[in-house]
Amino acid sequence: MGTIRARSDWIVEALATCLTKSTAQPRAQCLYEALRSWIQDGELASGSALPSSRRLARSLGLGRNTVLAATDRLVAEGFVETRQGAGLFVAELPAPPKALRDAPLPTAAMRLSRRGQRLLDFCATLSTGHCAFAPGVPALDQFPRERWQRLLRRHQHRAETRWFDYQSQGGLPALREALCDYLRLSRSVNCRPEQILITQGAQQGFELIARMLADPGDTAWIEEPGYGGAQACFTAAGLNIVPVAVDDDGLQPEAVPAGSPAPRLIYVTPSHQYPSGVTMPQARRLALLAAAERHGAWIVEDDYDSEFRYTTAPVASLQGLAVHTPVIYVGTFSKVLYPGLRLGYLVLPDALVDGFRRANARLHREGQYVVQSALAEFIVEGHFARHVARMRTCYRQRQAALRDALAPAVAQGLVLSQGQAGMHLVARLDSHATESQLVEAARAQGIVLSPLSRYYLQGPGQPGLVLGYAGADEVEIDRAGTWLSQAWLAARQASAQAGEAKAVSSS
Ligand SMILES: Cc1ncc(COP(=O)(O)O)c(C=O)c1O
Repeated sequence: MGTIRARSDWIVEALATCLTKSTAQPRAQCLYEALRSWIQDGELASGSALPSSRRLARSLGLGRNTVLAATDRLVAEGFVETRQGAGLFVAELPAPPKALRDAPLPTAAMRLSRRGQRLLDFCATLSTGHCAFAPGVPALDQFPRERWQRLLRRHQHRAETRWFDYQSQGGLPALREALCDYLRLSRSVNCRPEQILITQGAQQGFELIARMLADPGDTAWIEEPGYGGAQACFTAAGLNIVPVAVDDDGLQPEAVPAGSPAPRLIYVTPSHQYPSGVTMPQARRLALLAAAERHGAWIVEDDYDSEFRYTTAPVASLQGLAVHTPVIYVGTFSKVLYPGLRLGYLVLPDALVDGFRRANARLHREGQYVVQSALAEFIVEGHFARHVARMRTCYRQRQAALRDALAPAVAQGLVLSQGQAGMHLVARLDSHATESQLVEAARAQGIVLSPLSRYYLQGPGQPGLVLGYAGADEVEIDRAGTWLSQAWLAARQASAQAGEAKAVSSS
């Protein structure tokens, strides 16, 4: 009933707009043409109820005879039918001629831009759902939904009217204050609330940084292997991407070939390199800061999941190493809460705050102040810290379950990353053939294996698997891990036999 009412409101409103637009035409003609074209285009589907002629006349400020002139003509032409006692309905019409239905749009109209086309190259690494071993997905089943719902309801109820308006403050002040305390204490970020800009996730932060600090053709250093989301953003902004090799200490500034153009941006995940999982030690951080200063570049510090450290104390942020660092700190609630929340933030040097705030309001529009207000209370009341602590324990257990399941393979030489932090492990493989064979076979088991080689921008990349363990429960991890262990052992045996057969045939 509500839908019918809503649809008839929409019809009345759309007809009112048509009437205002075409003042020269007789009113009845105008009504008739508008309704007929919506029916022919399928916008009003067969069987849809139309508002009564009385309601149309009253709402549109027309005489009833004017409305009847239009609807009677539609009935006479078969577009509309009258049902006794029920009113007017869109008639069942034959489908439009095949030629019209099947005619493809001209190819020129469908062509993507070169930039759009390149962007699609990065979409293959998108997360494919909530199952083992989708990387980057938190434990959605563990999120305190009821508490969150209560907070949302309370803040919706209390919402200030101005929160429903366009916003350009850089985010709700209460959230920026709550975040600031958290970032200073937990992440050693050097900041005041005014330096924080709330975004719709880290991705939007990268986008803003690329647009505001670099011009098309400027160079951005990116970790190799690295995060596809950042690679995609910088590519879409038309930057010249230079992949810089990562070793056990993270991005190696000295590995950039001499004579390469100076970077404008340097993107890093120093607390927990994505995807290799290494942590950048102090000496490398200082070398990176020195390189950024030498080149006049900005470092983009993506601190996406550093809350989850298991064996060592939290690593302080790169941004907080000194009072004035050329670092923009990027954070997200996607991993600590849930990705669909679409909330993240930038911590900007004072000189950039105003420009970024205004550009963000112009380009993306701010919003969700009710949600931001609920989140501020979630943090201030300690629910956030408790949730992080609970998830740390949960992820430690899920990682242990994965290690247990993979133990038979590890005993036979499968190499796993250390997993001191984060939400995924990396398993190293010895060939790309094994990588694609395992990825393919896993799909049939409902298991997502992300090939490590796909995180490289250049060359074939190292073969391996990125195994997200946070998003699936221990039973599922055990099932999927046991399968993977057996599949890896079988692949290893098959390749050993193939090697022996080759040796025999060539001897
Ligand atoms: C390295 C890295 N940075 C940032 C993000 C989070 O991005 P967003 O806040 O846009 O969800 C992810 C998510 O997968 C990630 O893996």
